[in-house]
Amino acid sequence: MNRFDDLLSHAAATKDRQIRELFENDKRAAEFSAEFGEFLFDYSKTSIDETARDLLVALAERCGVAEKRAAMFAGAKINETENRAVLHTVWRNMAAEVSVDGRDVMPEVRATLGRMQAFAEAVRTGRFTGQGGAITDVVNIGIGGSDLGPAMATLALSSFADGPRCHFVSNVDGAHIHDTLAGLNPETTLVIVASKTFTTIETMTNAETARKWMAAKVATPAAQFAAISSAVDRTAAFGIDPSRVFGFEDWVGGRYSVWSPIGLSLMLAVGPGHFAEFHAGAAAMDRHFREAPLAENLPVLLALVGIWHNQVQGHATRAVLPYEQRLARLPAYLQQLEMESNGKRVSMDGADLPYNSGPVVWGEPGTNGQHAFYQLIHQGTRVIPCEFLVAATGREPDLEHQHLLLVANCLAQSEALLRGRSLAEATEILRKKGLTGAELERQARHRVFPGNRPSTTLLFNKLTPFTLGGIIALYEHRVFVEGVILGINSFDQWGVELGKELALALAPVLSGESDGAGKDGSTRALAARIRALREA
Ligand code: F6P
Repeated sequence: MNRFDDLLSHAAATKDRQIRELFENDKRAAEFSAEFGEFLFDYSKTSIDETARDLLVALAERCGVAEKRAAMFAGAKINETENRAVLHTVWRNMAAEVSVDGRDVMPEVRATLGRMQAFAEAVRTGRFTGQGGAITDVVNIGIGGSDLGPAMATLALSSFADGPRCHFVSNVDGAHIHDTLAGLNPETTLVIVASKTFTTIETMTNAETARKWMAAKVATPAAQFAAISSAVDRTAAFGIDPSRVFGFEDWVGGRYSVWSPIGLSLMLAVGPGHFAEFHAGAAAMDRHFREAPLAENLPVLLALVGIWHNQVQGHATRAVLPYEQRLARLPAYLQQLEMESNGKRVSMDGADLPYNSGPVVWGEPGTNGQHAFYQLIHQGTRVIPCEFLVAATGREPDLEHQHLLLVANCLAQSEALLRGRSLAEATEILRKKGLTGAELERQARHRVFPGNRPSTTLLFNKLTPFTLGGIIALYEHRVFVEGVILGINSFDQWGVELGKELALALAPVLSGESDGAGKDGSTRALAARIRALREA
C-alpha cells in the first residue's frame, strides 16, 4: 500500500490507450490546460484523463498541500531537519507580514533591499568607482544557489542589461577564475563574494585568488569587494567593509536565494527597476499559488503532472526544453532547484521512502537539442516526458521571422511526440520514393516513430523580468508541492555533505602527507597514480 495506489491502478487500467485518442474530445486542449496572467500551461498532450486528474488533485488534498503551503508562507519551521522557516518569498513581497521566533522579519529585509538598490545605483551611475574609474565589470564568485540563480537570470534578461558586464565564477578549477579574470581590468572590476555560509571551499578559494589578482594592481583591493551572506560575521574576517555587506537570514535556502541579496549581480546588470519587476512577477505567481483552486493552480498542476510521470508511470527523467536561447541556463538552475530539493531517500520522519523521489531533470534550449538528443526522445526505448517553454513573441523585432521558426519548431516537436509515424505511413512515404520489397520493409521500420510520448507546454508572451520572476516562482512552488506529496523535506541538502568531507580528507593523500590508510583500494590507487604523474 502506498499513497499512489489508486493512481497506479488507474494507470494500469488505461495503459493501452493512446494519448491521441484522448483528443477525440475536441475540448481537451482547453479542459487540460490552465491559465494565469500571460501564462498558459497545456498538459493535454499527456495521458492524464479526468479520472487521473481527480485522483491527483485528491492526492494533493490528502497530503495537506494547502495546509503546508499556509504554514510555509506563515513562517512555520517546515524545514524540520535544520529547524528553519522557509521564507524566500518575503524577499519579493515587501508588504509581507511575517515573524520568525516572534520577531518581525520585514524591517531588516526592507532595509537590506534599500541598501542593495542604493549600492547598485551608485555603481551603475559611477558614484561608486574602482581605483581606476567607473566599474565596468562585476565578478560574482559563488557556487550552487549563490551562482546558478543570478547567472541564469542575468543571461535570461540580457536584453535588459545596461549596467556593468557581469561574470560568474563558481568552479574551484582554477581555469574558471583564470579565464574570467584574464580579460578584465582590476582597477575597474567589482568582486562580489556570494556565499550563504561564507565557508564554501570553492568560493573562499576563488575569492582569495581574486583578491591576489586585484592586489597586484590596486592599492586597496578590499575596497572593490562586496559580500553577500547569512553569516555576516565571517565577511568581516575577509576584510570587507560592512557598508558593502548584504546579509540575509538562514530561512532563505541557497537554491531559493536569487530574490535576496544573492541577486545583487542581476540588479547591477539590469538595474533596480527591472529587478523590482522580477520580484513583482514572482509575487504575482505567489498570490496565484496561494489563492487558485488546486485543479487550476499552475504550480500544483506542474507538480501533479510530475508525480503522474515519475511516481505513477515510472519515467525517471524529465527534459526541460526552453525554446528561448536566453533561458539556456534554466535547465542547470532547475537541476539544483529540483534535484537538491527533492532528491531524498527518507520521508520527513526518517523512514525509507516506499516509492521514488524526484526525477532526474536535464535539458538544453531548442532548437539545439533537436540536433543532439531528440533522436532518443522520439525513437529510443525509454519514455522521456518533455517540458517545453516558449514565448509567443521574440525580443528582436527585426528577427521576428526567426522567432516564428523557433516557435514552429517547438510546436512541431510536441506534435511529433504525440502523433508519431506509423509503419503504414513510413512505408507509403518510401514507396513513393521508389523503394520496394524487402528493402522497403526494412527501411520503413527505421522510420517509424512510436508517438504517444508525453509533453507539456508553458506558453507566455515575451521574456521580461516580470515573466521570468513568474517562471522561477512557478518552479519553486512546483518543487514544494511535489515535496509535500512525497512527504519529504525539500529544504535540506544533507546529500552534498559526505563528498565535501571526503574531499578535505583527500587533500593530504594527494600531496603525499598521508598514505590514505583506511581508504578503499581504488581511491588509494588513483591518488598514487595522480601523485606519480604530478611528480614525473
Ligand atoms: O553544496 C550544496 C550547497 O550548500 C548548496 O545548497 C548551496 O547553494 C551551495 O552549496 C553554496 O553554498 P553557499 O552559498 O553557502 O556558499
